[in-house]
Amino acid sequence: MTTKTNRPFGLAATAAILTVLSTSAAFADSAGATFSSGNTFSQKTGEDLYANLCQACHMEKGEGAVGAGKYPALAKNTNLESAGYPIYVILHGQKGMPPVGQMLDDEQVAAVVNYVRTHFGNDYKDATTVQDVKDAR
Ligand code: HEC
Repeated sequence: MTTKTNRPFGLAATAAILTVLSTSAAFADSAGATFSSGNTFSQKTGEDLYANLCQACHMEKGEGAVGAGKYPALAKNTNLESAGYPIYVILHGQKGMPPVGQMLDDEQVAAVVNYVRTHFGNDYKDATTVQDVKDAR
């Protein structure tokens, strides 16, 4: 006789999320007062940054997920209309989302904000600048 197991939310995704979380925890531990070792992500393009940093939670096509937590869809998300909002969330975190922008430089944050605002059915053409990110730090 076989028993069916209903696995909650994909285990691979959960593992990926834990990796991201432990990366940010390690960063927080080592951050101390200095910020010299700064970046822990070497990717430069929004696409690569998304794949390495955001996708674990927001999924490959920005569709989000509900399971071991609720990860909002970034696809067709009108909350992205004002770039200030994603910049803020990335830099400072919000509830279940860690402040991943602390591991990125201003160029990287701008790149990933521009990426999500122009992909996944979003079409916001006013580009985010490095200065916008600097001002929001
Ligand atoms: C560890 C999981 C995790 C990672 C990694 C992550 N996010 Fe999030 N994100 C969340 C969660 C959870 C929320 C919902 C926060 C809340 O409840 O307000 C969220 C919210 C957001 C929002 C606000 C959406 C809305 O409609 O209010 C944006 C924008 C966003 N994330 C972008 C990103 C980007 C871009 C990255 C990569 C640079 C990223 N996130 C990485 C988990 C994550």
